[in-house]
Amino acid sequence: MARAHSHFVCQSCGAVYPKWAGRCEACGGWNSLVEEAVSQSAPKGLGAGKAKKLAFAGLEGGGAAAPRRLTGIAEFDRVCGGGLVPGTALLVGGDPGIGKSTLLLQIVAALASGKNGRPLACLYVSGEESLDQVRLRAARLAVAGSPVMLATATSVRDIAASLDGKDAPQIVVIDSIQTLYVDSIEAAPGTVSQVRASAQELIRLAKERGFTLFLVGHVTKEGMIAGPRVLEHMVDTVLYFEGDRGHQFRILRAVKNRFGPTDEIGVFEMTDRGLAEVANPSALFLAERQSPVSGTAVFAGMEGTRPVLVEIEALVAPSLLGTPRRAVVGWDGNRLAMILAVLEARCGVAIGARDVYLNVAGGLRIAEPAADLAVAAALLSALSQEPVPDKTVVFGEIGLSGEVRPVGQAEARLREAAKLGFANAFTPPRKGGDAGLRLAEIRHLRQLAARFLDRTAAAAALGPAGRRQAR
Ligand code: TYD
Ligand code: MG
Repeated sequence: MARAHSHFVCQSCGAVYPKWAGRCEACGGWNSLVEEAVSQSAPKGLGAGKAKKLAFAGLEGGGAAAPRRLTGIAEFDRVCGGGLVPGTALLVGGDPGIGKSTLLLQIVAALASGKNGRPLACLYVSGEESLDQVRLRAARLAVAGSPVMLATATSVRDIAASLDGKDAPQIVVIDSIQTLYVDSIEAAPGTVSQVRASAQELIRLAKERGFTLFLVGHVTKEGMIAGPRVLEHMVDTVLYFEGDRGHQFRILRAVKNRFGPTDEIGVFEMTDRGLAEVANPSALFLAERQSPVSGTAVFAGMEGTRPVLVEIEALVAPSLLGTPRRAVVGWDGNRLAMILAVLEARCGVAIGARDVYLNVAGGLRIAEPAADLAVAAALLSALSQEPVPDKTVVFGEIGLSGEVRPVGQAEARLREAAKLGFANAFTPPRKGGDAGLRLAEIRHLRQLAARFLDRTAAAAALGPAGRRQAR
């Protein structure tokens, strides 16, 4: 067979080009195209093979669904929708060093020792670390006694051959997919074609033999190692393990799940003996909170089905630059721009010309619009140097006209706040219970602004429009 020619594949999105280019047209990434050999023969078209007629099936029928496999690590079981489904593939993505290997070793150790039900045969394949390194970690995690089968391998052919037979594993962990290679493809391990081919083969085996497959994937910013993005379509569940390496909190988030909800998070804490579950994240996120200081507000948020209280910090400072700085950590920068504009245009609060810094404490990332009102409260408090009243939680969505809109699950948010000792809440107009808190219903952002910027402070902080309204 003549040697196949090569093409160029973007290592971050998988787009294919006949010629090299500095920038990928599809994803906009720079320097991400790498030459790869075109795999074996060209497709033959429909003329060649013999077709087999499909046997159609109905929606009903089939055997009872196999029971889900629970790890007993509650934070993990909830994120994957109530346990692992046999014959499915999960991708666990995350930055290097965030704790993926640690988490998966703890999971297989729990499953293998039958911490929660029947012990399962678990195989942990490491392509990155030596057996001794994995054993050292197991000792550190105090799971060395668990009957996990351990192997170091990078050849998919060898791994596939070991997944057969009567002692075939029910749980297989591949750490990481970027180290594997299929020997029929001429490309280095970690390139898109290798990653895709390796994953395809293993996922096919998982479906055929009914084991649950975990694939670990690194995400790199440079795009030199294939990000697991091309894999997201192939697997059933995508979990991202995220967190700030400066903080010990780690958040496991489902971004795709064919067998469960996608907005659940699991919260862990990295300790010197591995990852510990955090059953009450609110208490953790608020642990460092001091008695009321200006520029902070506690947001009563929801992560999936669970209420999570988290502190939002803001700093407003005079700007020395023509274009004031906006720095946001843990929230959406566009959303911040919108709230600043609403404060300026609808409430007459002159904040636009100042530098604004916003931070969500604890390394959590918030995506809910319900955080708008809490962000506004933190900003107003920073601007006026007036603390948000003690023991107060805030939530509500802000519209472009400045009106405050109701948000979902208000009751659950208030109950969580009450449980943690909060006594007051700034909420959107609402019907229903107050969970024992004293509620201040905010209909328009102007009402919130008025609580912070009284008439004397108004002279300094309010623009001309605000001064008119304050009068
Ligand atoms: P690791 O699971 O190797 O990360 P990944 O597989 O995502 O690259 O975790 C590495 C980090 O976790 C490392 O910086 C050390 C830290 N760590 C602890 O703090 N405590 C522990 O018990 C373990 C095993 C690791
Ligand atoms: Mg690792």
